Amino acid sequence: MKGCAVERSVNVTVVYYSSTGTIHRLAEEISETAEKQGAEVRLVRAAELAPRHAVDSRPAWAAHLRDTEDVPVASAGDVLWADAVLFGTPTRFGNVSAQLKQFIDTLGPAWSGGLLADKVYSAFTSGASTHGGMETTLVSIYNMACHFGGIIVPPGGDLNPYGTSHVLGADNAPVGDRALRAAQLQAERVVRVARALKEV
Ligand SMILES: Cc1cc2nc3c(=O)[nH]c(=O)nc-3n(C[C@H](O)[C@H](O)[C@H](O)COP(=O)(O)O)c2cc1C
Repeated sequence: MKGCAVERSVNVTVVYYSSTGTIHRLAEEISETAEKQGAEVRLVRAAELAPRHAVDSRPAWAAHLRDTEDVPVASAGDVLWADAVLFGTPTRFGNVSAQLKQFIDTLGPAWSGGLLADKVYSAFTSGASTHGGMETTLVSIYNMACHFGGIIVPPGGDLNPYGTSHVLGADNAPVGDRALRAAQLQAERVVRVARALKEV
């Protein structure tokens, strides 16, 4: 109708890896927020690659894997479908988890076909300690987004400008209000920018 602004639909894929549920919780919050902003959302997980004996050595790891069996395993198609992709990973030695990295490495053919370009990319993480390398993890993901020809959309602001980051600390604290608020702000911004880019 003339004079009515029509909101463009935006496809958002949240691809995450999580051993013990922290990143899964943030991924859920980001997905729900993006849906509230009117986006079509796919929440998908990077496949578990660790040997069974390693998973079973930590009850929380084995339980989380069992609890999230129904979350679809990510495919390249989920990334190709998206206007915006949010990658979530626990910080591992200041870097991306092998599981998420392995998934990203399967995107080689899509990259060489130029099919990863011009999408919005954003990232979130968690770590055991405040200075344990969460920002280097996030920047590692943004390095890859440069190769894709992507448009990096970090949250900015004063929570963690690089991307939502939850610190578990010595008490193994679950995701709390601060990280959830950061996740909401990040998801809102990603949808807003992806929508604006579609309108260009
Ligand atoms: C092999 C390994 C390496 C880790 N390296 C770091 C690290 O460099 N910095 C940090 O703060 N936490 C580190 N952690 C802690 C994880 O980041 C933390 O357990 C994770 O963020 C929890 O997320 P999840 O519940 O989604 O698996 C490491 C954990 C493991 C198992």
